[in-house]
Amino acid sequence: MEILRHAVVLVHLVGFAVLFGSWVVEAVGARRITPIMTWGMLIAAVAGLALSAPWGITEELNYAKIGTKLVILLIIGALLGIGTARQRKSGSVAPALFWLVGILTFVNAALAVLWR
Ligand code: HEM
Repeated sequence: MEILRHAVVLVHLVGFAVLFGSWVVEAVGARRITPIMTWGMLIAAVAGLALSAPWGITEELNYAKIGTKLVILLIIGALLGIGTARQRKSGSVAPALFWLVGILTFVNAALAVLWR
């Protein structure tokens, strides 16, 4: 059970890597929202929700941290949705919206690692 939980953490990290990695590529490039960002977010979300249940561990889960991360993820999801729609209409996305996606993704990773 414990090894399975570690495997789900790995999938969660792959989602984070896909979201943040594709955002970094755009940050040094065209600064556009891309579908791969949404895929990374969805992978992180599904694995994160699976990890939010207390299986394969003996210690308590930090539900305040998990709730905060869920709210931040929902905001990232909204930004990606709005950004995709605006880009389709006008061809570009507001810089604040683009940067917020990367900053909030980084904040979620920092919360995961630093808030014990
Ligand atoms: C962009 C969004 C997210 C990022 C970047 C992210 C990042 C991370 C990282 C880096 C870890 C590994 C921490 C470690 O093992 O030290 C982790 C673990 C975890 N994440 Fe996320 N996460 C995100 C979204 C979520 C969501 C939405 C949930 C649940 C609703 C969630 C729940 C968890 C849980 C339960 C763990 C394992 C236990 C813990 O360290 O708290 N994550 N996350």
